[in-house]
Amino acid sequence: MGANGISIEAVTSRDAITEFAMLPFEVYGERDAWWPPDIQNEIDLLSGRAPIAAHLAMMPFAARRAGRLVARVTAVVNFRYNQHWNERIGQLIHFEALAGEGEATVAMLDEASQWLHQRGMAAARSGFAAFLDYPYAIDNYGGLPPFLLRNSPEYYHTYFKEAAFVTEKGMTDFTIELTPQTLASYPAMIDHAARNGVRIRTWREHGFMDAVDAWTDVTNAAFAHHWGWNPITREEVRPMLSGLARTEVADLSTLAVADGQVVGSVFAVPDFSPRLARVRPGVRLDPSRGGGTRGALINIGVIQEWRGRGVNLGMAARSFIAMARQRMKYAGYTLVLDENWPSRRTAQKLGGRISSNFIVYRRDFAVA
Ligand SMILES: CC(C)(COP(=O)(O)OP(=O)(O)OC[C@H]1O[C@@H](n2cnc3c(N)ncnc32)[C@H](O)[C@@H]1OP(=O)(O)O)[C@@H](O)C(=O)NCCC(=O)NCCS
Repeated sequence: MGANGISIEAVTSRDAITEFAMLPFEVYGERDAWWPPDIQNEIDLLSGRAPIAAHLAMMPFAARRAGRLVARVTAVVNFRYNQHWNERIGQLIHFEALAGEGEATVAMLDEASQWLHQRGMAAARSGFAAFLDYPYAIDNYGGLPPFLLRNSPEYYHTYFKEAAFVTEKGMTDFTIELTPQTLASYPAMIDHAARNGVRIRTWREHGFMDAVDAWTDVTNAAFAHHWGWNPITREEVRPMLSGLARTEVADLSTLAVADGQVVGSVFAVPDFSPRLARVRPGVRLDPSRGGGTRGALINIGVIQEWRGRGVNLGMAARSFIAMARQRMKYAGYTLVLDENWPSRRTAQKLGGRISSNFIVYRRDFAVA
């Protein structure tokens, strides 16, 4: 234990891992609406039981003051990421911290960074890692964020900057209002893709499990040069998505097929907030944020050879028409890198406007 009763510990016991996994309830629990984490999923990951764990070396850290857990983070060496990009970057995932705990939090981020440095990493990133970590909010603090994201508190920025991190990337979330006028523009997008030899199918029409594999293959190809991404396997994606076969996801997610080959994919979800978000009784969500009226396109990719032929718009248009049929009034188009102009243009052409902004942090370690 150091000054002011602060201690930084590696988290190893089962009880400590469970306590670690529960910290978000202290950070976000008083909000009107938030997405609670999947505790079991996090425990499985940290215990090495999740399929993705085979590609990672991990060490969770806890900061305590006078014995109380006040901040947490997991340092990760993602071998697959570093091999794909020929980089030596470590990732700091699961970051959460209480207000007024800057000293303990900075000490913890330092310790976790050192752990990465000692394992040969040249830098640490926090706020984006495929399937593992999502970026930090820079607006809409306190509001219900898009599905999968946390609208992390504003004081997190001070903690990261005090710990010598700088902004590495910016990301945005778009929202499309599914008005009659917007919806009327979509059939022409599907027709345009058809004139280019591309048929759009839902995952249900294609066969859900075959569609899951097709999504994995298209995503690996389309995102091969996309910042922050690393290749994924069919074996790890199947258990993540198979449980959605009987949900609306099967009708909202789409594939583009040309010459018998899947050349593009969209993964989209209904408004999960009535099922998964914690909403304080009596609170009515802004309908553009949730409450049963906001579907979301989570991921879109078109393989290189088929870009520039309207495949993007055809797939998204079909998805958004299905959302409207299921009484959704808004569609999210979630997480676009600020410099990803093809994707930003796609969102705009579908009728989208920027509705939330996020950032990713990075700290380069000094060369000794
Ligand atoms: C994003 C993506 C799905 C777009 O699909 P696509 O079928 O290639 O889209 P298109 O090329 O027809 O349309 C993209 C638009 O961006 C424009 N564009 C492309 N590069 C651009 C640039 N550097 N600056 C500005 N606009 C650009 C295109 O001109 C086009 O606009 P237009 O229709 O007004 O001409 C595809 O590029 C892709 O799979 N990228 C990799 C994965 C990815 O980034 N997914 C989105 C993650 S948020």
